[in-house]
Amino acid sequence: MSLPTAVKIVEVSARDGLQNEKQFLETALKIEFINRLSAAGFQNIEAASFVSPKWVPQMADGAQVMAGITRRADTIYSALIPNLRGFEAALAAGAHEVVIFGAASESFSQKNINCSIAESIDRFAPVAQAALDAGLRLRASISCTLGCPYDGETSIDTVLDVVRRMRDLGVQEFDIADTIGVGTPLKTARLMESVAGIIPLHTIAGHFHDTYGQALANILAALQVGVSIFHSSVAGLGGCPYAKGATGNVATEDVLYMLHGMGIQTGIDLDHVVQTGAWISDQLGRPTSSRAGKALFLKNS
Ligand code: HMG
Ligand code: MG
Repeated sequence: MSLPTAVKIVEVSARDGLQNEKQFLETALKIEFINRLSAAGFQNIEAASFVSPKWVPQMADGAQVMAGITRRADTIYSALIPNLRGFEAALAAGAHEVVIFGAASESFSQKNINCSIAESIDRFAPVAQAALDAGLRLRASISCTLGCPYDGETSIDTVLDVVRRMRDLGVQEFDIADTIGVGTPLKTARLMESVAGIIPLHTIAGHFHDTYGQALANILAALQVGVSIFHSSVAGLGGCPYAKGATGNVATEDVLYMLHGMGIQTGIDLDHVVQTGAWISDQLGRPTSSRAGKALFLKNS
């Protein structure tokens, strides 16, 4: 079995995690959270999203958050953008990478960004061009690749079709997202193998929500295919307000415990992440969803 020797973790808690919080969180808290994440050594942190504040009020202070954080030299700070207006805001805020986001399911596309898949690609075309012209990294997130809360099963062909269209826009990294955590390992492996048939393996990222407790197993399955970028969220925060039944992302502490235990390097300080997971859980007033986070915190305190 040949596995990647190093993995890039994209820490999504400040975006995927916080966007799902009902209560508006102070900008200062978001800034401190990201600063703590930066200090743990992540290569890539999703710091904000520049979407309609009518749709996701929690993310309305993205510009202030991006302006307030202390940036670590080797970290890429990313922002999600649904349109040109979002791109302009992300550029002004100094995002290193912008993330356009579509879906492999028509109903989810409508619910999340209020347009069909085809319309979203048309909308993303000038956004992608503008990002590339500005010299920003361009990433795309594709939701519901292993199932949709509204349309049920997603076919691999539909995922491949969206990946091809995103590739043709010049996208450099592709997030294959299990938005509602319904995927299982063999399905995940088959999907990742198929995607790797049309884009380079090193440009594929796995974004797994842990709703059904399958995320770590799915990550292992994807690793075995050779995928070497994964998204995770401290304390297992996360969820999309427009994906019925979606719970948190796989917890970063659990992913790091597994990867480091397998001798796979991430460059991230797990102890620091455990402390940050305990801190944000405290701030949000609820226990962490991370099993490893909880065990390591208790062991070390
Ligand atoms: P719309 O209502 O069709 O479009 O929304 P609109 O152009 O009529 O905009 C509505 C209002 O928002 C207007 O304001 C616009 O100006 C404003 P009004 O004229 O009514 O006062 N607006 C904006 N304001 C600030 N920044 C912007 C912006 N754009 C419009 N960029 C739209 C279409 C795409 C804007 C909306 O549907 C939207 O913002 N959706 C985002 C939903 C979202 O953020 N979902 C969560 C992120 S995706 C996710 O979590 C999945 C992921 O984790 C992977 C996975 O797990 O699957 C990535
Ligand atoms: Mg997500």
